[in-house]
This record gives sequence, C-alpha cells and structure tokens, in this order.
Amino acid sequence: MKNKKKVLKNKKILLGVAGGVAAYKSVDLVRRLKDEGASVTVIMTDASKNFITPLSLEIASENRVCSGIFDDPMSHINLPREADIMLIAPATANIIGKFANGIADDLLSTCFLSFKGKVVIAPSMNWRMYDNPIFQENLRRLTAHGVIQAGPDRGTLACGEEGIGRMADVSEIIETIKSAFSKKDFFKKKIIVTAGPTREYLDPVRFLSNRSSGKMGYAVARACIRRGAEVILISGPSCLEQPHGLKSFFRVETAQEMKNAMFKHLHETDVVIMAAAPADFSPEKKEKTKINKTDKLLVNLRNTPDILSEIGKLKRRPLLVGFAAETGKRLDRAKEKLIQKNADIIVFNNVTAAGSGFDVDTNEITIIRKNKEVSLPLTTKDAAAEAILDAVSELLKRVKCII
Ligand code: PMT
Repeated sequence: MKNKKKVLKNKKILLGVAGGVAAYKSVDLVRRLKDEGASVTVIMTDASKNFITPLSLEIASENRVCSGIFDDPMSHINLPREADIMLIAPATANIIGKFANGIADDLLSTCFLSFKGKVVIAPSMNWRMYDNPIFQENLRRLTAHGVIQAGPDRGTLACGEEGIGRMADVSEIIETIKSAFSKKDFFKKKIIVTAGPTREYLDPVRFLSNRSSGKMGYAVARACIRRGAEVILISGPSCLEQPHGLKSFFRVETAQEMKNAMFKHLHETDVVIMAAAPADFSPEKKEKTKINKTDKLLVNLRNTPDILSEIGKLKRRPLLVGFAAETGKRLDRAKEKLIQKNADIIVFNNVTAAGSGFDVDTNEITIIRKNKEVSLPLTTKDAAAEAILDAVSELLKRVKCII
C-alpha cells in the first residue's frame, strides 16, 4: 500500500538549499518528499552550511549531497539532466537574484541555468528584504519565466519581527510540487467540496454528530486545486489545516448552515462533491441553557435538510457527486442513493472495513455511475480523491451541466 498511486512516486527531485535560517526545515522537507515516494538529490550552497550540515541532508535523503562546482566538473549538466523537477527551499534573496539575472557562479545557479523542467522556489528572508523593489523585480522576472513560487508566509521572522518572509510550510511546498506534476483538466472549473461532520445542538454545550474528521473531503479539495480548479470548501468542524490555494473556505456547524453556504454559491458552480457527513437528524428544540442532568431524557428529532437530494432536484444543476457511507458491503444501498438523490456519481464507502471510512488516512471505495462502476483497493484518501476526479473529468467531457 505504501507509496501506491502517489503523485510523487519515483519522481526525481533536485533540491537546492540556500543559506537562510529556514535551511533547518529542509531535513523535514526531504523526509516528507521521500515518504511521498520521491528520490531527492540535494545541492547545498556554501552559505547554507552555516545553518545545517551536509551530513544531516545526506542521512535524510539517503543520497550524496552536492555542493562544489568543481567536485565533479559535469555535475551542473548531469544533475539537472537526471531530475524531473527542481526545488529551491529556502530560496534566499541572493539565489533568487542570481537566477533572475542569469548569474552562474556556483553549483546551484549553474544547475538552474541548465535545467529544462519546472522549477519551484520557496522564498525565505526578512520582510524588509522581501519588500525591496529590486528583489520584487527579480521575483517577477522569474515567475514571468514560469518559475513557480510557494509562499512566503506572514508571521514571526528569525529576527523577532512580524511580517512576510517565512518560508512556506513544508506541506504547502509539497502540494506545490504535486500541483506542478498534475494535469490541469479542471482548469478554471468551479467546484464546491463539502467535508467533515455537522453538529446538531441539544443545548449550548451538547450536540449530535459523527466521527467524520474531514480527511476525505480535504483530500478531494486538494486534488481539485492541484488539477487547476477554483475550489470552495465548506467544512464542518475539523482540526485539519485549510488546503492552500482555496478560492474560499466556509466553516459551518449545522447541516442547515452547510446547506445555506452551498446554495449561496451553487449558481456559479460546475461540480459539487459532497464528502461531508452531515447529521441526518437534529433535535426539534435547542435549549438556551444547559439541560440539567435527569434520570431520563427524551429528545424529539427531526430530519435535517438533505442537501444532496435538494441539489439533485434542481432543473439545472452542477455535476453532482455524493458519497454513501455504509456499514458493510451494501453497494445496493449506494446504487439506490445514486437514483434517489439523482446524483451523477456516488462514491460507495464501506466505513466498517479495516482502514476505511472515518478518521483514517486510507479508504476503500467504489465509484458508481449509472452505467459503470470502478472498485479501488484500500488506498490513500489522496489517491481515492484523484480517482474520483478522473471519473468526474470523464463525465464533464460528455455532459454540459452548468446551472
Ligand atoms: O471525514 P473522514 O473522517 O475522512 O471520513 C470520510 C467519510 C466517511 C465521512 C466520507 O468518505 C463519506 O462517506 N461521506 C459521506 C457520509 C454520509 O453522510 O453518507 P450518507 O450515506 O449518510 O449520505 C449520502 C450523501 O448525502 C453524502 O454525500 C452526504 O454528504 C449527503 N448528505 C447526507 C445527509 C444530509 N443531511 N445531507 C446530505 O447532503
């Protein structure tokens, strides 16, 4: 299962580490890239060795670390020739300045000039340097030539000041790399994704909910972004980090709030993917104060709005993908949901199978369409999301379904 269908599997990444304080994060970056199935060759600038030792990166990458331009006279040609992508993290003002002006006076800058593929940079520096118009001109020049920029973030900087210049999170950098390798078959498509549970309150402190973590929906949102879509994520309560590159993010609590957020944006949407697990029932009455403990409490419940069905009933509607969380191999029930809710795709999800369903990183799904079904073995939620998007992409080519 490990590494299966991962976007970065077997990709060769040439990682340039320049001399900034964020260089210490490159060990984690290398490990995480390797967890994704990539192989990493590191080039260190001389300045970066003031912040981190070559040995740390050699151990993390399980690969030699290159540095001197004359250690191997052809390395500035051979290293780029063997790489699928170049990543510079941290990218200092100095290395960005060299890249932008065609200066090739060390191994990293010569490799950049001779590399033919995509380059991602993760700038990192003090906010004053980042704001400097000369630096900004260099940055614009590079991005105009197709160099992809990840970050920087705003926050506390090494000098203790607040401002823009922190190197992007490792997870954001990895998402940017994945995006660089992804096809853009959803370019400019507008997609609403729902994720997570809802909470239906009995009183100000107690609610009905379920075990959804949001992992499946967030994985779908990330895959949509990678493939070029403009994504609105409507999320119930979840501890997960917001995916980078969302068009909008709405945090909701109840199924009614999820419905309100959905219908506010539905008119401008090509595809809706409902991976959320909204509660089906809500207490008829929400008490204003905490209910006192009693021996017995009877609660009347009523149905929450069935958002998927309501969209399914619209005359003109987006392409509609729902999930069916079933306890057991109840494909029959999932197929019923496809018809009853008038969805285009239902993703059957056996939530009682080991490693599948709620609050795990993997899922076992069957993608059901009216005349086709595809079962996937247990796989990561990221890979499941990609497979769901493949099915959506195929349908989108055939039908025109914008409201
Ligand atoms: O969040 P994770 O921890 O990663 O877990 C993932 C998941 C198990 C929540 C996800 O894979 C999943 O199966 N989501 C659907 C859960 C669900 O509510 O299934 P359902 O069979 O009860 O509902 C069918 C469809 O109707 C779903 O698309 C659901 O979003 C939608 N629905 C349900 C209730 C409701 N009131 N309105 C709805 O629109």
